[in-house]
Amino acid sequence: MTEAPAAQPKKLYIKTYGCQMNVYDSDRMADALAPHGYEPTADIGVADLVVLNTCHIREKASEKVFSELGRLKRLREERRAAGAELMIGVAGCVAQAEGEEIVRRAPVVDLVFGPQSYHRLPELIARAGTGPVVDTEFPEEDKFEHLPAPAREVTVRRGLTAFLTVQEGCDKFCSFCVVPYTRGAETSRPVEQVLAEARGLVEAGVMELTLLGQNVNAYHGLDDRGRAVGLGELCFRLAALPGLRRLRYTTSHPLDMSDDLIAAHRDLDMLMPYLHLPVQSGSDRILKAMHRRHTRAHYMNTIQRILDARPDMALSGDFIVGFPGETDADFADTLAIARDVGYASAFTFKYSPRPGTPGADLPDQVPESVKIERLARLNAQIQDQTRAFAASCVGRVLEVLIEKPGRNPGQVGGRSPYLQAVHVDGPERLIGSMQKVRIVRAGNNSLAGKIVTVAEPKSASLVESQVRPA
Ligand code: SAH
Ligand code: SF4
Ligand code: F3S
Repeated sequence: MTEAPAAQPKKLYIKTYGCQMNVYDSDRMADALAPHGYEPTADIGVADLVVLNTCHIREKASEKVFSELGRLKRLREERRAAGAELMIGVAGCVAQAEGEEIVRRAPVVDLVFGPQSYHRLPELIARAGTGPVVDTEFPEEDKFEHLPAPAREVTVRRGLTAFLTVQEGCDKFCSFCVVPYTRGAETSRPVEQVLAEARGLVEAGVMELTLLGQNVNAYHGLDDRGRAVGLGELCFRLAALPGLRRLRYTTSHPLDMSDDLIAAHRDLDMLMPYLHLPVQSGSDRILKAMHRRHTRAHYMNTIQRILDARPDMALSGDFIVGFPGETDADFADTLAIARDVGYASAFTFKYSPRPGTPGADLPDQVPESVKIERLARLNAQIQDQTRAFAASCVGRVLEVLIEKPGRNPGQVGGRSPYLQAVHVDGPERLIGSMQKVRIVRAGNNSLAGKIVTVAEPKSASLVESQVRPA
């Protein structure tokens, strides 16, 4: 039997905006297209298909898409003048929220498809040959059942750390947020499906997994006996995978920090002592208007439960300043809670009214100048806290997963348990090992350290035999 000559591979360029789930989804789109002859490229100038994987969370994020589409229109004209074609797709949360409107506003777009349609991408591309295609349904079938796994060498190339979506969507409906509309109702992937994907990643050398979900700690996937399993138990199941060294998860809601999950933090060393637990505001009045369904006291009590279980836990958070009705006193409560929790880092945002969310229709919208001023004050405080946290690491011995060559020759780089970048003196053969590192200096965005005693990485052949599926 002779094989047909392989068709020239097509080039795929995906530009990713927004959260980690979009980063994960972009890889899964590439995986879905690989069997159809698409190869990823880092050079947009040679792409046959460009996909913008978009974010709708704030106005600025979603407007970026339209300026990018303007550039893509010119790129397509250039390519056509050279006798080549370029297909343009818009995926992600702007696609889900705006659907047809995108094609009306930017007729250059061939394809608009939401996060629940990624498994249909090959079929959508085939249909787009005859005119624009819009698919923003929430289909019956489970996309994860239909998305192909990447080839082992693709996972190897993606590195030692990986994201894994275990939960998607949100039922919380905070009054500022578009996510429940763009990602749909909360769903959890079945336990066995998650374990199978994790096994594939770990067997290809992944040492650190970050479990993803819009409300990841609301995870309640079914096991093979039809029993709902929470995130804490899922962490225990994953921790048993040979070769896996670190687990993280993001993003969590304060109401879903169950006792089981906190017990996992107490009992599982591999569950990293760094938790992103957004509070958004320190004022009970504003928390209520935001429909967060928890108070300042409830949040502080949750933090205490976590610290009781894991005293070395460091925290990060998200804040919104200038939510409608926020007074100077409310904002002072936000500064106070950020200080009282002692966040090691935080993401801060000016409130952006989003069409279709209840917050956008509230009276007492805060003037832009006030938002700018409050954001600057909060940022200054958070920056001080982050610096103080980094300084408190100097002298400590932290375990670092060595991931890549360092900035200078003779250096390697990796991450601390707290996700800080750490540079250490050491040879490249240490990449793929965990090292105990004494932190000697804290810079603005990274730490410098010295390896205490070099833990020799397992030899390549040993790693290979250890990770081969039986
Ligand atoms: N699921 C996560 C957050 C998703 S969005 C959670 O519940 O924590 C990430 C962050 O963006 C939010 O935590 C919030 O701080 C910010 N954000 C969401 N909507 C926003 C809006 N309309 N304006 C400004 N910031 C917003
Ligand atoms: Fe948005 Fe609130 Fe859901 Fe987080 S919990 S995704 S902020 S609605
Ligand atoms: Fe943005 Fe959608 Fe993520 S709105 S933050 S890409 S879930």
